[in-house]
Parts: sequence; C-alpha cells; structure tokens
Amino acid sequence: MTIITSQSSPAIVVDGTSFALNGNNVSYRFHVDTDNAAGDLILDHFGGPLTEDPVARIARNGGGWSTQAHLRREFPDLGRGDFRAPAVHIKHAKGFAICDFKYQSHTIVKGKPDLPNLPSTFGSDDEVSTLIVHLWDSCSSVAADLSYSIFPEHDAIVRSVSITNKGSEAISVEKLASLSVDFPHDDYDMLQLRGEWARECTRGRRSVDYGLQGFGSSAGFSSHYHNPFLSLVSSSTTESHGDAWGFSLVYTGSFNIEVEQSPQGLTRVLVGMNPSQLSCPLGPGESLTSPECVSVFSSSGVGNMSRKFHKLYRRNLIKSKFVNEPRPALLNSWEGVYFDVNEATIDRLAQASANLGVKLFVLDDGWFGDKHPRINDKAGLGDWVVNPKRFPNSLKPVAENVCKLKVAGSTDDTRLKFGLWIEPEMVNARSELYEQHPDWILHAGDYPRSETRQQLVLNVALPEVQEFIIAAVTRILEDAPISYVKWDHNRGTHESPSPANHHAYILGIYRVFDVLTSRFPDILWEGCASGGGRFDPGILQYFPQVWTSDGTDPLDRISIQFGTSLVYPPSTMGAHISVSPNEITGRSTPLQFRAHVAMMGGSFGLELDPDVMPEDDRAQIPGLIALAEKINPIVIRGDMWRLNLPETSNYPSALFISEDGNQAVLFAFQIRTTNVHNYPFLRLQGLDPSAKYKLDVDGERIVSGATLMNGGIQFRFGSDYDSKVVLLEKV
Ligand code: GLA
Repeated sequence: MTIITSQSSPAIVVDGTSFALNGNNVSYRFHVDTDNAAGDLILDHFGGPLTEDPVARIARNGGGWSTQAHLRREFPDLGRGDFRAPAVHIKHAKGFAICDFKYQSHTIVKGKPDLPNLPSTFGSDDEVSTLIVHLWDSCSSVAADLSYSIFPEHDAIVRSVSITNKGSEAISVEKLASLSVDFPHDDYDMLQLRGEWARECTRGRRSVDYGLQGFGSSAGFSSHYHNPFLSLVSSSTTESHGDAWGFSLVYTGSFNIEVEQSPQGLTRVLVGMNPSQLSCPLGPGESLTSPECVSVFSSSGVGNMSRKFHKLYRRNLIKSKFVNEPRPALLNSWEGVYFDVNEATIDRLAQASANLGVKLFVLDDGWFGDKHPRINDKAGLGDWVVNPKRFPNSLKPVAENVCKLKVAGSTDDTRLKFGLWIEPEMVNARSELYEQHPDWILHAGDYPRSETRQQLVLNVALPEVQEFIIAAVTRILEDAPISYVKWDHNRGTHESPSPANHHAYILGIYRVFDVLTSRFPDILWEGCASGGGRFDPGILQYFPQVWTSDGTDPLDRISIQFGTSLVYPPSTMGAHISVSPNEITGRSTPLQFRAHVAMMGGSFGLELDPDVMPEDDRAQIPGLIALAEKINPIVIRGDMWRLNLPETSNYPSALFISEDGNQAVLFAFQIRTTNVHNYPFLRLQGLDPSAKYKLDVDGERIVSGATLMNGGIQFRFGSDYDSKVVLLEKV
C-alpha cells in the first residue's frame, strides 16, 4: 500500500475539497460544504459515470422548516437539526448526545488497509484505492475517519468509519452506521432477503414509503429473518434493466438497516451494527472501527448488481484457497441417520457413498460426548471428545478407513475423503464443560439462562473461551485425517452481560476463525447456523461456503438459492439432494428435479441414506454426480444470469456462463404442468450474439448467441417438477 502524495489518481480524484471516486461504470462524488453547514460532507452523486458534478446541486432549503432536510449528508449526526435518522450517536461524559464533525484533512492510499480485527475486502494496489477523510469534533475532541475504497472494475465502493476518543473523558458510542447515503428525490423500491429457519433469503420487494422503514437482526448473528443486505432500486428497475444499488455489510453480528424517505423526498440509507447492542465505551485514546459496507452500482438491473458482488466476493473477500476450486460431491449423514451414528453406521454409509461416486463423506452431529453423550440434542455440546461407546477405537481409525475407500467410477484411484461437523460456540447444560465452567456461558447476572434447542452459548468475547475453542478444534483436526469441517451455530445469543458484549463476541469469533483457518488452510470449511442463518460476507472471509438452508425441498430451494444469489456467489452455496417426500414440507418431487436444483449450488451433495432409497433412484445417482461434477467449474467460477424468477414464473431458470465465455450451463424448471398451454421460449442472456454454440435439445445442434438470446429455446416439459440441464459449448 502506497500513500499517494499527488492529489489524484484515476480512481480517486480530488479537486480542492471535492472528491470523486470513479469506477468503470460508477461515479461517487461529494464535497466539503462551505455554505449551509460549513465543514460537513455533502454527497453530489452516486450512480453512473460523471465527469463533473451534476448540473444543479440540490436546491437550498427551499422554504422548508428544517435547516438540513434538503442536504445529502455523508455522515449525519444527531441533535443539531437533521431530524432524519443519524449515522452516529455518541454519548459524552457530560451526558450530551451531540456531535459536530467537520472536515479536517484527507489521505489517499493505493490499495486498502485492513480493518483492525474485522473481516474486510482486500486487493492489490492496482485493484483498489482508498480515500480516508478525517473529521474532527472540536467540542468533544472526538475524531471520525471515513474510509472509502473504490474497486473500479467491480463498480464497488466500500465504506467504514472509525471513531477515536482524543479527549480526556470516557465516551460511549451508541450508534455507528458503516454506510450512510442520501439519495435524491425519486421513486425507489427496496429489495431485501428475509425468511425463517428452512426458508432463508426469500426475496422481498416493496416501495420505499414516507418516513422510516427498515429491518435488522438482534439475534447476535446475521440471522434467518433478515440478511445484512439491501438493494435500493428505481421503481421501474427489473432483473436486466434500470438502476440498482446494492449494500452488503461485512459483518456476522446483529445489524440494522434503515431507509428513510424524508419530507423533502430524499431517501436516506443507513447500514451498520445494531445500535441496541452497541453502547461501546471508549476511554481516552481508544477507537471503535465499524465493519465495512460494500456498495455496488449497476445501471443494467439487479442481475448485473449480483454478478458484480459475486466477482468481488470471489476475488477480493474470500481468503480460502478453495474459493475458485470445484468442490467434491459429498454425502452428509444428518438427514439420513440424524443422531444415530456409530462405527458400523459410518462404515456402511461411507461404503455406500463411495459406491455411488461420492468424493467426501461427512459425519454430522452425534459423534462426541463421554459423560454426557450427544445421542440427541439434549446433551454433550462442549465436550469435544469422541463418544467411546459409539466409537470405541476413537475417530482416527474410522476416518482412516473412510479415506481408504475407492470411489467407484474414478479413473485415477480416487479415495473417499472424510469431513466432520462441529458446533464449538455452544454448550448443553448437560455437559462436562458446563459443570466445569458455568461462568463461561453467556449470562446476565441472576437472570435465567434461557435455552434454545436445549443449548446455551459460550461467551466468545472472553479470551479464555477463545483459547478453549481453538485448542479443542485443533485437537480434533490433528487427531484424524479431516478434509472438511462444517461449523454450526444453532441458536441466537441472548442474556448478554452488556450490549457491548455482542460486538466483542463477534470480534472474538473472528479471531478464532482467523487462527483456525490460517492453521488449517487445507481444510474446506463450511459455515452453518441451522442452515443459512450465518450466510453473510463476514463468514465468507474465512469459510468459502455455507450450508444454504435446512430446507431441502427443491421447490423452496429454488427461491432460497435464487434469493441468496442476489448478493452471494453460487460457489458459496451448499446444496444437497434429500429424500422425497421432503421431511419438512411433505412434498414429493422427482430425483432429477431435486438434483438439478442442488447442482446450482457450488457444493453439491446428498443428504440421505442411500441404502433406503428406491432402487431406481439409487441407480441414477452416479450419473447425476457425474453431471454435477462436469458443470461444477462453471457454477463455481462463472457468471450467473437469473432468467426467470421463481416469484413470478412457473418456469424459473438460470444460465451460468464460464469466465472465458466458452461454456455455459442452462437450468430450466417447470413447477406445475398446465393443460393445453403452450411452453414459453426461454431467451438466454449474456452470450456472445455473433458466436455459435453447440447444444443438445432433442438432438445436437449449433445455434448463434443471437438466436438463443432473441429467439430462445422452447422446451417440451413433462409433468410437475420437471427440469432440464443443457450444456452450451462455443464452437
Ligand atoms: C443444524 C444444521 C443441520 C445439522 C444439525 C445437527 O440444524 O443446519 O444441517 O447439522 O444442526 O444438529
């Protein structure tokens, strides 16, 4: 990282105290106000490229009652006349809740500095440049640094804020939004990802209305209810047309997203940590740095916004060496046998997996606990020792035997690999850990320690708890040949000893992730929180994939996976075939439909007991695995084009195009068959119109990109839950 001494670089241009951040297709411009609120930062533009400021800046007050309501403020404060939601709220020793931050100076650096103890996007000096604007509140001696990094190729601007107490008395930071941006008067819709357990990341769209609206998590993790992501779009924007701004918070804890349309018609967006769980005390000389918020702009619809996020996150967020690697087809024991695991079951399931061509066998919950064995979800969490009754010879020989099994159908003597489930942040009251360290459990004085799924949460803010987890997981991973870990987290955090402990917990768990993933870089790590409750960019820094949902019904899964893809790369999604009828919904679907849906996720697998599958289905599995493996590199590294959305179409579909554009794979689904109704033409997108593509639809043919995009493909579907997967090869 180099400090740029001249006033400008192509990506960051400074003219006096006007600043421009320039991406290939985005321009972000703001200036230091010399007028209304001298020293305040005022936004001039966030959208498509500009070479100078827009012709007319927002008119002055215009007769309105508030002196600030017309201003597009970069770092709005509380208590001095801006009556909209603030980005910052600081409680001073004398009880004031006012700030008056004014521009002092700025610094430009090539590259991007790391955020202290937080996950963050990264890039070389050629990929990213950073502008840090130093603000100062002379009444309280508090400094605020706003950091803006621009990734020109991705049209992405990343912002974080750091507050430093340079005074002599303690302060408390009550609210600190990572991003605050005021949009000009216009009609906007907001897109969000919402849901519940087993139906995470369902896409929701609504008009931005007068006043304050928003969502967030107070669960202590990003949560099933709301994902830390918002897209603001023009009301006419579609998947492939119109302006779309995406905001994605790189944080795993509770968060808060506010959208406020003000009386003068401006729309403010605030994204940051949840203020109800902050109250962060800062003594003299101490700082608090917010997580960063990634903003991406697309002038060609929501689909393009998603593809920009996908590329940025694959290249500049996920650190794992597996980020661009095809993932092994796996079999996870959970839905097949649940807690009923022992040496014999594992031998049997692993052998069945190898016979089908599976490459990685995963032993899920139920393998640990001695005094309080984990034979159901009532006991054992925290006791990371192998259950001696179930595995009398420990795990090592079991794992070694798994790794000796030859994978059927492999031409190069491939052996099965072994993976393991753990949930290290949790503890059952019935565990030796709880007996020994009741003080390690999150609790608030004498308030009852309320249980969810019969479990409690370790206070990972405590260094001794972090050390315990690091040592316990290290021991497990050093003791057996383990290639994959599923790190689960099956409840929210409550009874926190203080609001500030929530953020301290997240910093603690980031430290644990950092130590363990650096110590075991050859392990493929997968995140999970009862499914996708922890699908957030903070997790992706350490784990290249996340179990997308416990909801494995393929119909629900199309919505969940399409929703998740609004911001997260398909490569990061774990997606498995489970039994039919589905155990949660009771819906019956054909194996091929279940498999095709699962193939749209980067980590394809099975979540069932092959020995209890219908014989016909079992016979199809090797072929389906072979197909999944063939297309997996395109899903992992390619661009995803959502062609028809499950919310609006009976024929949801998606096209994945390889990075070099030479290959593509089309997924087309029919949900319900319709009587005497024609089939739609599925018009592809993103292809080269002048190139020719070879594909097989009722026989091999060669067709131009123009024909495929303007004319399309008409499939003859069969009954309910029919599906097609078609490979395209540029010739
Ligand atoms: C959570 C996960 C499941 C499984 C169970 C085990 O619910 O989402 O996939 O691992 O825990 O208890």
